[in-house]
Amino acid sequence: MALILNTGGLGYIGSHTCISLMKNGFDVLVIDSLVNSSRNNFERIKYLLNEIKVPYSGKLFFEEGDLRDTTWLDNIFKKQISINNPIDSVIHFASLKSVEESVSNPLKYWDANINSTLSLLSIMDKFNCNKIVFSSSATVYKARDDKKLDENTFQEPINPYGNTKMTIEKILKDLYLSDASKWKMINLRYFNPVGAHDSGILGEEPKSNPTNLFPILEKVVLGELEELSIFGNDWPTKDGTCVRDYIHIVDLSDAHFAALKFLENKPSQYISLNIGTGNGLSVLEIIENYSKLNNISIPYKFVERRKGDAASVVADNSLALKLLEWRPVKTIEDICLDSFRYTTKKLLI
Ligand code: NAD
Ligand code: UD1
Repeated sequence: MALILNTGGLGYIGSHTCISLMKNGFDVLVIDSLVNSSRNNFERIKYLLNEIKVPYSGKLFFEEGDLRDTTWLDNIFKKQISINNPIDSVIHFASLKSVEESVSNPLKYWDANINSTLSLLSIMDKFNCNKIVFSSSATVYKARDDKKLDENTFQEPINPYGNTKMTIEKILKDLYLSDASKWKMINLRYFNPVGAHDSGILGEEPKSNPTNLFPILEKVVLGELEELSIFGNDWPTKDGTCVRDYIHIVDLSDAHFAALKFLENKPSQYISLNIGTGNGLSVLEIIENYSKLNNISIPYKFVERRKGDAASVVADNSLALKLLEWRPVKTIEDICLDSFRYTTKKLLI
């Protein structure tokens, strides 16, 4: 079966995508510098596949290194050719992703995100590996409170992290246009990926201090934080708290398999697809669901609005539903139960 290169494949989304791809028969080569993940995730994926008996048929490989090391990357592509198992396609997850850090240290973000992508694309080009699925983000859009965001929504990121995502999309498009019979490219613009694998073994494990809602919720559950601070209760939304499109990590991972399948039999192309559920939930609705379903109390207080937040960010996902053999099937119940299972398992380890 075809070999897929997952850059950043030991991170949150990449690790779940390994399982999705292997369940569907693909072999997966993960490369990761471990800057925001650990080798444990490689062991966890293997454990999940072998001990929990998730049915799979693909094989899994791992090489540790930084994408910006072009000579090292060149050798990986060469080695795969020499053993008659060339890299067929790439899913490019590897990136730094902290909005806050990108504001305080923009050069680090431009270097890490842009130079790693340039290195990757130059080697893909050299070895005629021309299929790529890129991890983009809803953060590229200028948020609009009055309607769902479709792929043509005006783009205006408001922080360096978002700027790097938009720039990489432009680099990909320029490359596609340089030879319109060669490249097959999809930008998947994720909305809010949350939740964990339902085994409770794999989930999000940021190395640095998290700022996103679910990792913060986890800290409250683990007793590391006394209460959740909700950023504003005077937004123009159903209950005054911000609305987001939360998508279960397993649904999101499956979208990558669907994207590769879509590219398989298509001519050269460059497209962008929103990956979200199309449904918005407020922060209060998340807390209500999470506490009721898991039978725990989540103390919270309202604080000032956070800089850069928008009232509502919800996907118009109709293009992805039309083009891909994919639709999100997990519910908010799955999200809350799976997150909690993953969090509380940590208490047992
Ligand atoms: P993550 O930090 O968990 O995973 C990224 C992985 O890439 C990590 O394992 C890290 O060690 C690795 N990495 C980073 N730079 C590298 C480099 N130069 N060379 C090799 N490996 C490198 O992040 P994630 O949540 O899994 O996100 C995956 C992708 O999806 C990222 O591109 C992110 O920007 C994008 N994205 C994430 C979200 C989200 O909320 N999680 C939302 C939209 C887009
Ligand atoms: C944030 C980033 C976005 C990035 C995305 C994924 C900002 C302004 N936006 O999006 O660029 O692409 O993460 O990494 O940083 N909330 C609280 N209290 C908290 C944490 C969050 O009330 O302690 C609220 C937020 O106001 C928001 C919702 O929870 O309404 C979700 O927040 P978060 O998980 O940070 O995601 P986004 O804000 O959508």
